[in-house]
Amino acid sequence: MRLNQSLKRVLIQEEQLRRKIGELGAEISGDYREMSGEVAGGRPLLTVGVLRGGVIFLADLIRAIEIPLGYDFITVSSYGNATSPGELRLLKDLVDPVEGRDVLIVEDIVDTGRTVRFIQQTLHNRRVRSLKTCALIDKRARREVEVELDYVGFRLEEDEFLVGYGLDYAGLYRNLPYVASLKPAALEGDA
Ligand code: IMP
Ligand code: MG
Repeated sequence: MRLNQSLKRVLIQEEQLRRKIGELGAEISGDYREMSGEVAGGRPLLTVGVLRGGVIFLADLIRAIEIPLGYDFITVSSYGNATSPGELRLLKDLVDPVEGRDVLIVEDIVDTGRTVRFIQQTLHNRRVRSLKTCALIDKRARREVEVELDYVGFRLEEDEFLVGYGLDYAGLYRNLPYVASLKPAALEGDA
């Protein structure tokens, strides 16, 4: 089986990803240069990748950022039952405390907004020094809660299910080097 046989169309090509991530990295480097790493006694920027989808983006983004930084990971899971739809919980926490740190959340895609809002609230409660969010894709069609996104790679208006570059369907397609939509047949039976 070939990974690309279920794809409908490619929405974001490898070259577009590369260029946009370079731009985001330059912008983030500029914004944080005075804030953290080089301030006497300051601690470096901490990027927080959201597992599992955000890993590929984080890996490329941090190599486009030219200031000192560290990274850590968080996993959020939906309880996904009828009594508490959309309720989220922390499945895997950060390794180190973040109080007083400049924290940048790095997420693959913002859809309803619930996941990012939950992570923002969770980290805000730990009294970080600053908290910003960088999303590769802002998919607004199904937004349920307003979230502040400080850095956005691509804004998509279509309500299509996307795969690739970390995004999965049923655990697959994360290793595609571009972002694509799936043929309806590939999503069937998943109502
Ligand atoms: P939320 O609806 O904004 O809370 O997004 C929840 C999570 O669903 C995101 O972190 C993604 O991992 C995943 N997700 C949302 N839209 C897509 C998509 O089009 N393809 C793959 N995963 C998605
Ligand atoms: Mg995700």
